[in-house]
Amino acid sequence: MTLVKMKEILGDAEKNQYGVGAFSVANMEMVMAAIKAAEKLCSPLILQIAEVRLKHSLLHIIGPAMVAAAEKAEVPVAVHLDHGLTENTIREALEIGFTSIMYDGSHHSLKENIFNTKKMAAIARGYGASVEAEIGQVGGSEDGSVDLEILITSTEEARRFEHETGVDALAIAIGNAHGMYKGEPSLRIDRLQEINKEVDIPLVLHGGSGISQEDFRTCIRHGIRKINVATSTFNSVVSKVNERAPFQDYFSYHENVIEAAAENVKRHMLMFQSNSRVKGGITYV
Ligand code: 13P
Repeated sequence: MTLVKMKEILGDAEKNQYGVGAFSVANMEMVMAAIKAAEKLCSPLILQIAEVRLKHSLLHIIGPAMVAAAEKAEVPVAVHLDHGLTENTIREALEIGFTSIMYDGSHHSLKENIFNTKKMAAIARGYGASVEAEIGQVGGSEDGSVDLEILITSTEEARRFEHETGVDALAIAIGNAHGMYKGEPSLRIDRLQEINKEVDIPLVLHGGSGISQEDFRTCIRHGIRKINVATSTFNSVVSKVNERAPFQDYFSYHENVIEAAAENVKRHMLMFQSNSRVKGGITYV
């Protein structure tokens, strides 16, 4: 059984200075693909789904599938609720066995965000789960339904937030955005460096699709430990399926979905240098 807490995965990444991908999934094929990629590369993995996506992938169906897949995996896997917005969904994910949740109160005032985060963190702690929260505002939105502007995280607020909430990981906004970037992403590495000096917990970079290997590695050098990737996996699946269509039967389509998603996950794991970090189940190298 290799379902683990996210905190444990990020602890090894911190100790050995690498990044861990948190890959968004929407169906069983994508769950299987992410696990297959992680096992192939001997990489730890964070499997995640965001609350806004649950209208497509029902939590009571995909959640148990994610947990079951993690339990059988040959590498450490944390199962994470991405951008949790409501107490009900956070509780449902924890009941299903998610080992980590993100509460996203970044659209509230700092005071309200701290208040709500503390409440959600207390609930998660009751299940022994890890907690991520966000301050500042990552651009775009997870499902593209709104185009939020980027609000760069203040270093002082990050320090205060860490101190007052005691979360395990903090998502910051340094010019990153969800969805594909319109031009070259321009990341505020200076701000990341400042925050990393003031904040002791692992930092999280949302909006991983479209960031270059060079930028990922610079971010990792300055404290980013968890990197969220969604859009590029969905796009890889659509491209491959379109390229190989028409299919004669359902199962060759199914195999192509897995292949495309696994390729994208592997490509990111290599950029994050999370490969060859585990051997024999959950023993870190
Ligand atoms: P992308 O869709 O840009 O990869 O962002 C994913 C993300 O940050 C999910 O929280």
